[in-house]
Amino acid sequence: MKQMRFSTLADISKNGVYQNKKLSKKEMCGLLSLNTKRRSHKKKNFYGDDFFDIKKSGTIYNMHIYWTKQNPFVIAKLVHHYTKPNDFVLDAFCGSGMTGVAAKIVGRNVILIDLSPSAIHISRNYTTLTDPEPFKDIFTKIYEDVYKELIWMFRTKCHICGNENALVESTILSDVYACPYCSKGVIYGNEQRWSSLKTGAKIKTITCDHCTSKFNIKDAKFLRRTPIEIRVRCNKCKVSGKNKIKKLSKEDMELYKKIEDMRIPYPYPEDVRFFGWEPKRNIKKGIYYPYQMFSKRNLYVLAAFWDKINKIENKKIKEKLQFLFTGALFNVSLMVRWHHKYDVVVTGTRTRKGTLYIPPIINDANPFIPFKVKSNTIYRGLKKLLELYKRDSICFVEKGSAMHLGFIPDASIDYVYYDPPYGSNIDYSGINLMWEAWLNDIVDTKEEVVENVDQGKTIEDYKNMLIRSFKEVHRVLKDECFFSLVFSYSLPLMWRVVQEASFNADFKSDFNIITVSSKSKTAVQSVSLKAQQRFFIITFKKSNMHMRTLKKCPDFNEYITKNIKDFLLSHPESTYDKIYDYLVKKCWKDGVLIENFDLAKVLTTLQV
Ligand SMILES: C[S@@+](CC[C@H](N)C(=O)[O-])C[C@H]1O[C@@H](n2cnc3c(N)ncnc32)[C@H](O)[C@@H]1O
Ligand SMILES: [Zn+2]
Ligand SMILES: [Zn+2]
Repeated sequence: MKQMRFSTLADISKNGVYQNKKLSKKEMCGLLSLNTKRRSHKKKNFYGDDFFDIKKSGTIYNMHIYWTKQNPFVIAKLVHHYTKPNDFVLDAFCGSGMTGVAAKIVGRNVILIDLSPSAIHISRNYTTLTDPEPFKDIFTKIYEDVYKELIWMFRTKCHICGNENALVESTILSDVYACPYCSKGVIYGNEQRWSSLKTGAKIKTITCDHCTSKFNIKDAKFLRRTPIEIRVRCNKCKVSGKNKIKKLSKEDMELYKKIEDMRIPYPYPEDVRFFGWEPKRNIKKGIYYPYQMFSKRNLYVLAAFWDKINKIENKKIKEKLQFLFTGALFNVSLMVRWHHKYDVVVTGTRTRKGTLYIPPIINDANPFIPFKVKSNTIYRGLKKLLELYKRDSICFVEKGSAMHLGFIPDASIDYVYYDPPYGSNIDYSGINLMWEAWLNDIVDTKEEVVENVDQGKTIEDYKNMLIRSFKEVHRVLKDECFFSLVFSYSLPLMWRVVQEASFNADFKSDFNIITVSSKSKTAVQSVSLKAQQRFFIITFKKSNMHMRTLKKCPDFNEYITKNIKDFLLSHPESTYDKIYDYLVKKCWKDGVLIENFDLAKVLTTLQV
């Protein structure tokens, strides 16, 4: 190999990262070869208490959305425990790059890899710093330009004080279905249903306004959407609360319709088509392309912003502005659901994360508002990162596959932290097309570790890909070093897959499982099989000592029942989650292959 320009890690730190220089794969490989020669420090597995009340929020967390995003401070705790200064951390399923954020906070070198161009875009922006002031200035300039040009689209007359220059804060859009009996259009949020929806009623079956037949909205043909109300922002009378609610006037409706028929003069991703299973849910609503996930008016504004952002010459600031754009994108989409509790609260708008679900009643935001909010969050986030990041550590971010880490030499990594996809839980590649359409960089799904009928990948294929990537971990990790695996999906079947995959990849020595939860449950009945409120971190040691075996239990049900009984004797007040956690951990400890079981059922038979 060509002689490295940098001879020591300290050198590269000074020469490379202080100036935010991007390293090439070759340079990275050279550095890691040097790292193989560094002795790994003797470390113990983390036997501390489980983590509790670790919230998924905060300025840094809120800078950009991602699916099953981790809290970087949890990871930082582990990175701190398992590594020493100058060590290299690897996350090859990096998603939004929270392992990178953690490593930069602790001051360790880190390599981030993901298959998804969106994930790389987010990770890169999270781990490279930019001066927040010029970022803010340039954003403000763009914002004002677009505002001047397009704010007319959101003008409305204040229904309280008569101000002609009030603004639409959001527009409530309702689905319109074809009645299966008379085929006439029926507005889901018609006057009568709208008032019950506002009291929190859930309405799935509706009565046709024309022929009075009843039908379920699931079975009805979707025709279109129509605006039913607006929320007004008036800087004259400062209208607030329920007073913001305005029925559309004739002028409001005309303006809305006029924009629907306009041609957008800015480029937007017209040709990128959705693929994958998650986008399929919207085919019945006529959606085949990511750009169709926005109302026409919002798409127009988005295209204008995107055009201006891409014309910025300063590359670092341009990237951060793109980060702002992708960070706000879902908040201005048709996915933002109206909810009676947050009826008139601007920041109360929500989307169903990890899906592309479009609700029947949408709170279609005036995009200028979420953009402004996001710019403030990112501005504050950048300031915070500037304070927290240790500058003399390397962060290498690169698109790639966890199954093929060719550029990483054997035994060169000091700690690995992985949070891979779990089965068919989330369609990352399908959902991320929302961003990739704009970024003009579409994921290649060939190596995507996922169970996906669309890609012809079965659960068995998924397991084999997981094994392949765990074997890569085993290869690149130094002896006696640790591999932490996040497990955020607690169905027994998936536990079993992870058990088999890790044993297959020779991680069968020392390990520990901790539970990270954000809420403590009290009722035994609380059945949360999908573990929304908690997840597990399994940490393996790469070692040839004390190798365990994994075996099938002759009578798994009997084994489970006996263990529940024992556990309840010593922990009579245990919650459902506690029992579940105990059981899976016990199976791992005993080297028992986890088989399918229904804890709720077993508990009923035991009459607890
Ligand atoms: C659970 S997410 C990671 C989320 C991350 N922990 C965070 O905090 O944002 C799993 C990631 O694995 C990625 N992925 C799937 N197959 C991959 C592969 N073969 N190589 C690398 N990344 C892959 C997906 O694109 C997705 O971003
Ligand atoms: Zn009808
Ligand atoms: Zn007013």
